[in-house]
Amino acid sequence: MLSDKTIEIVKSTVPLLAQAGTVVTEHFYKRLFSHNPELQDIFNMANQQSGRQQFALFNALAAYAQNIDNLDVLKESLARINHKHASMHILPEHYPIVGGHLIGTLKELLPEQFTPEVEYAWREAYALLADICITEEAALYAHSKNNIGGWSGTRQFVITNKQVESELVTSFTLTPVDGKAVITHKPGQYLGIKVKPTDAQYSEIRQYSISQKSNGENYRISVKKELLPAAGIVSNYLHTLDEGSVVELYPPAGDFFLRANNKPAVLISAGVGQTPMLAMLQTLLSDASNQAVTYLHACENTEQHSFNKFLSTQAAAHSRLTHYTWLNQGGSDANFNGLMDINKVAQQLPLNDGDFYICGPVGFMAAIKKQLLALSVADESIHYEMFGPHQDL
Ligand SMILES: Cc1cc2nc3c(=O)[nH]c(=O)nc-3n(C[C@H](O)[C@H](O)[C@H](O)COP(=O)(O)OP(=O)(O)OC[C@H]3O[C@@H](n4cnc5c(N)ncnc54)[C@H](O)[C@@H]3O)c2cc1C
Ligand code: HEM
Repeated sequence: MLSDKTIEIVKSTVPLLAQAGTVVTEHFYKRLFSHNPELQDIFNMANQQSGRQQFALFNALAAYAQNIDNLDVLKESLARINHKHASMHILPEHYPIVGGHLIGTLKELLPEQFTPEVEYAWREAYALLADICITEEAALYAHSKNNIGGWSGTRQFVITNKQVESELVTSFTLTPVDGKAVITHKPGQYLGIKVKPTDAQYSEIRQYSISQKSNGENYRISVKKELLPAAGIVSNYLHTLDEGSVVELYPPAGDFFLRANNKPAVLISAGVGQTPMLAMLQTLLSDASNQAVTYLHACENTEQHSFNKFLSTQAAAHSRLTHYTWLNQGGSDANFNGLMDINKVAQQLPLNDGDFYICGPVGFMAAIKKQLLALSVADESIHYEMFGPHQDL
């Protein structure tokens, strides 16, 4: 329990954290990596360069300070952080390291605002937050370890099938080297994959959504090549790997998954964002319910249109599946040309009683959410996943 005084002091520092500019965040990460260089094997150093992750931590701390007397508000965002941490095997001993550098940074850069009294309050508040995270993450680790096919930390998987899906996306089936079972994942969840690409300075961990339903034997991921010159450390490396290559995986994690209910589902994706949708789709079509499933997908052109044949086969086999495709540049495999416009199919959607799942670039997801809200879909029926540090839409 924090004292009223601590709560009041921590709350008063919200503007300090919320406005922490690049000077503060960069100082923190420089400090962290110079004192604890081993953490460079855990953090995504490309995210560091693009600055995306740098703000995620400070924004989360600002939200924590803001709601320190009503932590229930943070439940969802904390769960998301805990799952992300679990996919990288963040451990209790990491928390004091991060906390120490955080407080060190604020003391060094903002000595006038970060007085000894403020420091004391933040030490207490950080310890409480760390405790909450450590407890939640311990529960996730226990689940991953103690269930059939489960494990802890990394486990070696061999690529048993490599399948080109389109110009940019290739799927990899990953089977445990030990030949034993794998733990069930919830459709929509992702894996943390750890590799050390040739030429890379550090080991790299990335998340990839599992693109098939659970089968107890293997997982499949479908990876998009990054084309930007500065980017693509892991995705491009994975594309060079052949069947027989071995990678390390952390157990499935993620709080974006098919809700266990019997509502009609609408799966909406753009580009490689269809990976979690494929796991959801396969799961939905194999269950006993007769709920309608709608699959809406958008991509650039025919060459980049992955899983088209799979969708057509499924639609032919299951009359309750309807699917529509938007190709930005048009093509014979498109129902519509240009960007996705939900209004074009709104009449066929379960706007009042469906669950809507979205995954794709941030701009796409924001536009789709806006369209759904304009059609009076309830906010709580809209679920989305970001392939990078989370932002609220
Ligand atoms: C929950 C989740 C699920 C995911 N599922 C999938 C999936 O199913 N399939 C899939 O393909 N991907 C998925 N991703 C994305 C994946 O984890 C990787 O982020 C993606 O493959 C890119 O990693 P990379 O190492 O190839 O690129 P990186 O080298 O990490 O580069 C990534 C981006 O960082 C930026 N960047 C890199 N270097 C610089 C620089 N010097 N300056 C400025 N910006 C820079 C660029 O914008 C670049 O596009 C998922 C991500 C998450 C969080
Ligand atoms: C209470 C303290 C912490 C808070 C509030 C926090 C918050 C966050 C947030 C908000 C994200 C982004 C989640 C997303 O992708 O949406 C994140 C990701 C991450 N966190 Fe933490 N975190 C904390 C502690 C730690 C610790 C102790 C470590 C380990 C050293 C750690 C390592 C990471 C890594 C590696 C990522 C992924 C992003 C990347 O690789 O750049 N975090 N954390």
